[in-house]
Amino acid sequence: MEVVIAAPEELVALAAGAIESLLAAKPAAVLGLATGSSPLGIYDELVRRYEDGRVSFAHARGFLLDEYVGLPADHPERYRNVIEQEIASRVDFVPDAVQGPDGLAEDIAAACVRYEAAIAEAGGVDLQILGIGTDGHVGFNEPGSSLASRTRIKTLTDQTRADNARFFDGDVEAVPRHCLTQGLATIMSARHIVLIASGRAKAEAIHHLVEGPVSAMWPGTILQHHPHVSVLIDPAAASRLQLADYFRSTYAAKPAWQGL
Ligand code: GLP
Repeated sequence: MEVVIAAPEELVALAAGAIESLLAAKPAAVLGLATGSSPLGIYDELVRRYEDGRVSFAHARGFLLDEYVGLPADHPERYRNVIEQEIASRVDFVPDAVQGPDGLAEDIAAACVRYEAAIAEAGGVDLQILGIGTDGHVGFNEPGSSLASRTRIKTLTDQTRADNARFFDGDVEAVPRHCLTQGLATIMSARHIVLIASGRAKAEAIHHLVEGPVSAMWPGTILQHHPHVSVLIDPAAASRLQLADYFRSTYAAKPAWQGL
């Protein structure tokens, strides 16, 4: 696990740079796309690089991490629509190159199995962008999630619904209770995971993620078992790390040739 503590603009440039390099080496790469506010800067930077002709998504595929259950197809907060608006429609993904779990499926269990099969059929995720919830959830894998879980339905915690109410005009009752999410084992199957977080509200989750014991109580801690994770955090999100000085000096001395 590499931990980079830097200003948000630098974190965004690092993540976008990793995606640009991946697509240059493998134009048909498979990207794992996260929602939430944390990745928005990365998407804006990718759009800038696309407009500058530095990166193309014409052969790439994208898979969403998660989706609310039951939001109408045209609801602006449906994650499929959020990703369309924030990235997919702003670059040159071909139609249907980006998929998400079907939160409107009649047979939810079958839709989850189909989603896992679609990811596998695409060859698996090359680079997964991740955020983290204040309670340590990744995707929508809330505390208590099986560390071996695959795509399935989950019930959101009150804390996550309160955190996400800001996207629903502050109305917590408008936030769906159920979601579909890639499981922790699904996320762990990605070849490179780039997690981005900023702000004091994420400091405890980041402390557990990086320094805590691996536990379903802090689902993101499973990433300690992954061989290639980049944790990109601003100083506020790093404020509870015991190893912050070590991470800063390691990054300062990083060989110039070494990407994320
Ligand atoms: C949401 C999403 C997660 C996201 C997290 C943090 O509920 N399902 O994928 O990482 O919460 O969101 P934000 O980046 O807005 O803080």
